[in-house]
Amino acid sequence: MREGDRVILSWVPSCGRCHTCLAGHPARCELCADVLAPQGVLYDGTTRLHLGDERLHHYLSVSSFAEEAVVPESGTIPIHADAPLDVSALVGCAVATGVGAVRRTAAVPEGATVAVIGCGGVGLSAVQGARLARAGRVIAVDLDPARGALAQTLGATDAIAAAEGDVVEQVRDLTGGGVDFAFDAIGKVETTEQAVRMLGLGGTAVVVGLPPVGARAAFDPLALAEREQRIVGSNYGSTRPHEDFPELVSLYLAGDLKLDELVSGRRPLADAEQALQELAAGRALRTLLVPSL
Ligand SMILES: NC(=O)c1ccc[n+]([C@@H]2O[C@H](COP(=O)([O-])OP(=O)(O)OC[C@H]3O[C@@H](n4cnc5c(N)ncnc54)[C@H](O)[C@@H]3O)[C@@H](O)[C@H]2O)c1
Ligand SMILES: [Zn+2]
Repeated sequence: MREGDRVILSWVPSCGRCHTCLAGHPARCELCADVLAPQGVLYDGTTRLHLGDERLHHYLSVSSFAEEAVVPESGTIPIHADAPLDVSALVGCAVATGVGAVRRTAAVPEGATVAVIGCGGVGLSAVQGARLARAGRVIAVDLDPARGALAQTLGATDAIAAAEGDVVEQVRDLTGGGVDFAFDAIGKVETTEQAVRMLGLGGTAVVVGLPPVGARAAFDPLALAEREQRIVGSNYGSTRPHEDFPELVSLYLAGDLKLDELVSGRRPLADAEQALQELAAGRALRTLLVPSL
């Protein structure tokens, strides 16, 4: 990396030396999981953020919502010099997570049937990942029919309104028995359980959405064994940031990955709190905080 490079920040700045980094899984970096993220410090154990005398922490090694940040160098990923910085910011979380869950964690093969539960920033990126993987059928599920309709413009072949009837039955009816891959991109116990129950023979449920700490979900272990199904977790889409971020930006520049469609508004940095409230209330898809506004 050189001064002046355009970069995207990664919230798993991998150390490159631990067991999992060496095995090619930087999103599982042990040092990041055990030290950086939980303690909110840099690699030297310090923080560089202060509010008066109070020491602040580096949230997820990124310290976003700021005009300047001190971050580990391994968490800065250079991208194409022509990449627009505003929409490229989406790549560093929702897009890497959703696309990566499909292409890296699940390695969805061409022609597979896929269901994505939840069409927020992460789920819509999973839908796009499924399109890029040339999945055969991509079923988008959301409570909000407008989100399902948007998913259909991004690559979903079908949309199911979760408020209208049993989601699992609807997916089973559409696919004649269940999907090959189901992604829970919401993180409610109920939606994780739906993802498992909508699987066909040999299907894989991928847990992407993050439930509250301590949540417990139930599944039928006998059905899992008899039907050779799997449940897997996906952190940061199992991304390899130095390979994936530049590729995702190139796909955007080539028109093959839609990012502008995920942006529902732009606000100045000072509006961060309102933007988060709108996101939580489902009124915003992604709001770009633009310091110069
Ligand atoms: N695993 C990871 O590494 C990782 C990374 C980033 C985000 N996440 C998690 O992914 C999840 C999704 O994030 P997001 O930013 O896309 O969320 P979001 O709030 O933008 O979108 C959630 C969507 O789910 C829909 N929804 C809510 N309840 C529903 C239900 N019962 N049935 C159907 N649809 C429903 C909403 O209408 C909304 O469209 C969150 O839990 C987030 O914490 C995980
Ligand atoms: Zn590591």
